[in-house]
Amino acid sequence: MPTIRLVNITKQFAKGSKAVDNLNMVIKDGEFVSLLGPSGCGKTTTLRMIAGLETPTEGEIYFDDVCVFSDEKGINLSPDKRNIGFLFQNYALWPHMTVRKNISFGLENMKWPKEKIEARVDEICKTMRIEEYKDRYPAELSGGQQQRVAIARTLAPEPKVLLMDEPLSNLDAKLRNDMRAELKRLHLNTGSTFVYVTHDQSEAMTLSTKVALIKLGLLQQYCPPLELYGEPANVFCADFMGNPSMNFVECHGKKEGKKIDLTTQSFECKFTPNDEIDVPEEGEYVLGIRPEFVNISDEGLEARVISSLPSGMETTLSLAVDDITLSAVAFGSVDFAMDSTVKFNFSGNRYVLFDKATGEKLSLGSLEIIK
Ligand SMILES: Nc1ncnc2c1ncn2[C@@H]1O[C@H](COP(=O)(O)OP(=O)(O)OP(=O)(O)O)[C@@H](O)[C@H]1O
Ligand SMILES: [Mg+2]
Repeated sequence: MPTIRLVNITKQFAKGSKAVDNLNMVIKDGEFVSLLGPSGCGKTTTLRMIAGLETPTEGEIYFDDVCVFSDEKGINLSPDKRNIGFLFQNYALWPHMTVRKNISFGLENMKWPKEKIEARVDEICKTMRIEEYKDRYPAELSGGQQQRVAIARTLAPEPKVLLMDEPLSNLDAKLRNDMRAELKRLHLNTGSTFVYVTHDQSEAMTLSTKVALIKLGLLQQYCPPLELYGEPANVFCADFMGNPSMNFVECHGKKEGKKIDLTTQSFECKFTPNDEIDVPEEGEYVLGIRPEFVNISDEGLEARVISSLPSGMETTLSLAVDDITLSAVAFGSVDFAMDSTVKFNFSGNRYVLFDKATGEKLSLGSLEIIK
């Protein structure tokens, strides 16, 4: 399986701004990489450039040491020479062909010998757990089964790289969950490199070995999902990951030795950075607090419960601390009365301090309430 390397890849369509702006990315052998970001950020364009279905305006693409695209060297390998599988959002199966035929058709076109095709179809149907449906027509299958056939068809020629563009977006929530598990298992079993486009942060979180978060054609952060969640590079990344989303509290900071005293609209606290950071004597910051790090407890700051949404496993709270609203998550089967008063404190060292002007992360650290 090859390592895919994108070097200074830019795509500018005839009209409009850059759909992809100077993208540098290495997708290692066997990885499951998600391209994540809001609508229009350039995910599909990036995927299509890897596939060879779209020509970059500038840059180079390598599969291992083989250059498949270079604007300077005038190289542009056609999609069929790149040995990739492509699964689109609308995975139309051929309605007049059985499942078996849907899968074998491509192999026949590639002039595979008959016995090899049969063996491969059997094998891939087993992997995708659609053996019993081999002689059915697509219309006789559920959405999830059709989806599995589509994946089987894409995997049948043994592509070294599987590119998927929101392949689960047409499925209902339950099926989508099942298919996520299926894809993860498939990734393990095949050892192929997966590049997966989604705008759903929880999908990217749960599936990928690495997530590339993109905003307006610009790569914001490229790292394992938990790192993206826990150590976001900037406010955009922090805000995009997690549901309920991170709380952002604007504050004024005064340096006190290695610590920073933060004054928000309604409370004051001391921030102790995990790493040494170089900040001015005074500055403007945004404090990022994940809802699960607002701990409801017997002591601490008082807050009024604006809403309480118990889901069984946990309860999502909206708390008013004077003029600031914080979301919090309380674990377990608990409920809180509307307008009741609760207390909360902070613990651990996963609070994030951002520079207000640039939105960039300065450091993670711990928080101590002063008043
Ligand atoms: N053929 C095209 N001609 C002109 N502009 C295009 C073309 N294809 C895409 N774009 C523009 O490039 C940008 C990126 O589009 P792209 O389809 O890659 O976004 P995306 O991240 O996949 O979005 P979505 O989540 O909505 O599918 C958009 O602003 C889009 O309008
Ligand atoms: Mg798209």
